[in-house]
Amino acid sequence: MRLKHCYNFEDYRSLARQRLPAPIFHYIDGGADDEVTRRKNAESFNDVDLVPDVLRGVGDVDMSVQVMGQKLATPFYCSPTALQRLFHPDGEYAVGAAANAMGTMFGVSSLGTVSIEELRRRYKTPQAYQFYFHKDRGVNRAMMERAKAAGVDVMMLTVDTITGGNRERDLRTGFSIPLRLTLGGMMSFALKPRWILDYLRHEKFRFPQLEDHIDMSGGAISVGKYLTETLDPAMSWDDAAEMVAQWDGQFCLKGVMSVADAKRAVDIGCNGIILSNHGGRQLDGSRTAFDQLGEVVDAVGGNIDIMMDGGIKRGTHVLKALAMGAKAVGIGRYYLFALAAAGQEGVEHALNTLKSEVERDMKLMGCTSLSRLSKANLAF
Ligand code: LAC
Repeated sequence: MRLKHCYNFEDYRSLARQRLPAPIFHYIDGGADDEVTRRKNAESFNDVDLVPDVLRGVGDVDMSVQVMGQKLATPFYCSPTALQRLFHPDGEYAVGAAANAMGTMFGVSSLGTVSIEELRRRYKTPQAYQFYFHKDRGVNRAMMERAKAAGVDVMMLTVDTITGGNRERDLRTGFSIPLRLTLGGMMSFALKPRWILDYLRHEKFRFPQLEDHIDMSGGAISVGKYLTETLDPAMSWDDAAEMVAQWDGQFCLKGVMSVADAKRAVDIGCNGIILSNHGGRQLDGSRTAFDQLGEVVDAVGGNIDIMMDGGIKRGTHVLKALAMGAKAVGIGRYYLFALAAAGQEGVEHALNTLKSEVERDMKLMGCTSLSRLSKANLAF
């Protein structure tokens, strides 16, 4: 399998699987518990059908959207994800460059491996920051101030990951950062010498967002421990409201699922919410974002920007989410597999694949502008 023979999500996934040591592939691919939610995320789009309009003069289609105060050239953006330089040595540089070329937003994680400042310096496209809330309130305030100074455009407070999910694939392979591999895990690294060479030849793997605040060096703390011991499961609506006030800019909660919580997000002054179950990596058995979208849009769609992520593999999935009322959708594994497969070229390839699907599907839907899509284009 080669990049030029990749036509869809599954192809990027296969190529990533060829290139990555198995424990790393499974970290990206896997979900929590029985992975029911992970599977359902993609399947949920099949329960709703598109109803196209015809003879609408779709010579030109406008794929841009306005969300969280940003204009994006495509209705999809790259969701923030952790550890990107482990998947490919260029990590966030590659993703930022590809998003920049596409004119869409990309997210950087608190567990990102390139600094928000360096990414801001290189790329002018909208940058979101995925914020994890720590027990140490001083750390939270300092990290927010730093993000403000760096020129982050959109703050995304993750509310579905107040502790680590039960990722049994990782337990089996021994995946952790720092790596503590089982014998099987070690053998799978030995099978991928190219990945090892790439890893050793490049800039040292670091956590620039965290290292000034938390000792992540020399194995002092693992990523698993960071999630379960450093993050604050006591985080409350009052804490979120305080963050909204301190940030004083575009702010959204990532991982809201219920109508009641969506209303509270409006009440505390959020500009947006992202319906998400974290790619099925946290609470297994959770409802899918797409299945919740209709109700939440009906309740608060007029007051706040609603986004969603989880299971997007096709242009038609993007259009279904937008017809249901989402302003934009996030992709995660889609671009991560492409990153692992071929770095920046891979991410660009993947973003272009999805963009051509969206463009073709808009034409087939008789839709020249995404704001025209509505529930009238869907049948249940
Ligand atoms: C994950 C966290 C770190 O899903 O975002 O692995």
